[in-house]
Amino acid sequence: MECEEIKLQIKNEGTFSLEKGENVLSVLIAGKIFDERGCGGHGTCGKCTVRFLGNAPLPKPGDRRRFTPEQLRDGWRLACLARPQQDCCIEILFEKKSPFILTQSVLTKAGQKNDTESIVIGDLGTTTIVLQLADPESGTVLDTFCALNPQRAYGADVISRIGCAMEGRAEELSRMVRECVERPVKQWIAQGHAIKMIIIAGNTVMSHLYEGYDVSGLAKAPFTPVTTGPLNTSVCNTEVTFLPGISAFVGGDITAGMLVCREEMEKERVTTALLIDLGTNGEIALMGKDGILCTAAAAGPAFEGGFAAQIPGSDVISVVAELLEKGWLDETGLLAEPYFESGAPCGEFTIYREDIRKLQMAKAAIFAGIRILLEESGTKADEVERVYLAGGFGYKLNVEAACKIGLIPDNWAERTIAVGNTALAGAYLYGKELIRSEREGQEKSEPAGEIIRNTKSINLAESEAFDAYYLQAMELGKKGI
Ligand code: FES
Repeated sequence: MECEEIKLQIKNEGTFSLEKGENVLSVLIAGKIFDERGCGGHGTCGKCTVRFLGNAPLPKPGDRRRFTPEQLRDGWRLACLARPQQDCCIEILFEKKSPFILTQSVLTKAGQKNDTESIVIGDLGTTTIVLQLADPESGTVLDTFCALNPQRAYGADVISRIGCAMEGRAEELSRMVRECVERPVKQWIAQGHAIKMIIIAGNTVMSHLYEGYDVSGLAKAPFTPVTTGPLNTSVCNTEVTFLPGISAFVGGDITAGMLVCREEMEKERVTTALLIDLGTNGEIALMGKDGILCTAAAAGPAFEGGFAAQIPGSDVISVVAELLEKGWLDETGLLAEPYFESGAPCGEFTIYREDIRKLQMAKAAIFAGIRILLEESGTKADEVERVYLAGGFGYKLNVEAACKIGLIPDNWAERTIAVGNTALAGAYLYGKELIRSEREGQEKSEPAGEIIRNTKSINLAESEAFDAYYLQAMELGKKGI
């Protein structure tokens, strides 16, 4: 039976054909208008919101959950659920702008290039990829390459990528990121740069997918990676090293963060500090004189954005803090009337109960994770002298608002600072140390060896106290610890 084709006109983009009953998201992805499936196209993340300017298909339950009756009448639909049956026209309502890519780090500084050979440092993230050409001696950044991780077309988080690899697309996922890393390296070589080595920090799933390792062990308990050790491969005949990780959930990107924190702690003469990297997975490391305790708290998508993902997660926190202050929202996360059902207006957007709920769950997981690390290590909250916030989210976070909603303990506001992209800075420190030991003719040692040996990873799912702490931390509002 022949498939019937219909025309889909996308305002300001052009006209596309699709098969009758095919979902609109696949056309947006094929036309490179949308480059990620936030929830794998299940209609739960709201990132693919469009508006039909006529002939809108009937709303699905997922549309009804997400949009108000007025919006539904106005043609608002989720592209991943919309399967038009006749020619139609849509306009894009989702944010087409690329996400914020953080290239600033504590080590980035202007200066002279000293060495004849450069190194390439990389942050291979689930959402973005950043590579920098740097002078190994001074840390001067000579050039920066940023890209969205092309694997986003197969889902926004590591869970969807694992699923995709296990469904037979592992090779394709590996090829996608390898090509992305190769592109700037080839360019820099063509420009005459001699590249000594490439050092990359990424989470355990990202490094496994890059190497083409089996990720099935990362899909279910007891979450066993093929390896957490440093990985070596090559690009354009140059050795590539992935920083070693600690566990399935605490990868080389966090090892990099710990290398940076250790350096900062030495500079600031701090003995006890906490590193928090907020993302879909909130990694937390408590670094003290007796060792390091780390964990990963499943934070979900709240920190990646709310309001149908039209504003960044860091702004969601400020908005929620404001709603609390105005009394439009109570500590249990319920919106006051008249916003209870329809959501509260916030600029041109509306904040819904489910956005607030997601944020509550995320911040509860982080807060409970922090509490457990403190208890396990016998550290009192006041002994934590510094809180380093890593990554793009931490960089933009309004610490005061984070304290107001109870994401960060209130008594830590003044000791909390953002340290930028620690994956890049840590990769630099790692490469620098490799070069130093090679120059001094020492046997090749592991630059993160001491950190790896002294770090104990805690699985929050196995902690008896976690559920109780999590529930207590669901409440919004200032909290001490
Ligand atoms: S991709 Fe459509 S709602 Fe998530």
